[in-house]
Amino acid sequence: MGHAEATDIHDLTAARQFSAPVMTGQAAYTASFLDGAYDLLVHTLTNHLTWSCPTKRLVDLYDRNVSADHLDVGVGTGLLLTRCRFPSPSPRVALMDLNENALRAAAARIATLADVTLYRANVLDPIPLDARFDSIGLVYLLHCLPGRLEEKGAAIGHLGALLKPRGVLFGATILSDRYAAEHLRTRTMAGWLRKKGVFANADDTLAGLETALRAHFTEYHVETVGSVALFTARKP
Ligand SMILES: C[S@@+](CC[C@H](N)C(=O)[O-])C[C@H]1O[C@@H](n2cnc3c(N)ncnc32)[C@H](O)[C@@H]1O
Repeated sequence: MGHAEATDIHDLTAARQFSAPVMTGQAAYTASFLDGAYDLLVHTLTNHLTWSCPTKRLVDLYDRNVSADHLDVGVGTGLLLTRCRFPSPSPRVALMDLNENALRAAAARIATLADVTLYRANVLDPIPLDARFDSIGLVYLLHCLPGRLEEKGAAIGHLGALLKPRGVLFGATILSDRYAAEHLRTRTMAGWLRKKGVFANADDTLAGLETALRAHFTEYHVETVGSVALFTARKP
């Protein structure tokens, strides 16, 4: 089994400097936030109470789509990878994130479950990687990226290029046109997270997500649960 140390991170960024909005989108994920509060805040509280999409729905999405040769992108603490069922007792799992704290936290979490490889990359840039995967998970990253969904959807294209021919990209993102119709507490939380720079989804709509998926995939499916869009995409 792999046990990923900090030195095992393959840096695909070529030491690039990133724009302030890109850096802001990943800045909240300090080691102490990931260690202490992230899972409680996101997966225990806000998924249920604010976005009306219980974490179980995200785990179900993984269970339906995750493969034994999986790339997870925007990894946070790696909680969903520990909850889902892999179709093999010894899966290969590559983790990709711009933030090294997240890579280390998630790697430590799944070290005993999988053979782990770590990549540091910005999904808004083309990703210089030869490896190809049967499944790619992209949960709760798009709403952190700057720009309109039609533009930041470039990330979907960059990741699509890393799929094997019959592979699946699956993910979830919080859409502003979904929570607009929800409770005041939902809009208030979203506004606060945007002010903090954690979310950048003011213009993210269901139509924008579908446009981004259609631009890179011939086959896709989107379902909304509360304020969250769950999607899968394939290139048959
Ligand atoms: C909200 S967390 C999602 C964590 C996890 N998928 C989950 O559902 O709990 C967003 C993750 O995306 C990463 N991230 C933010 N901007 C990124 C970028 N431009 N490229 C790659 N990763 C990025 C952050 O560092 C963080 O780990």
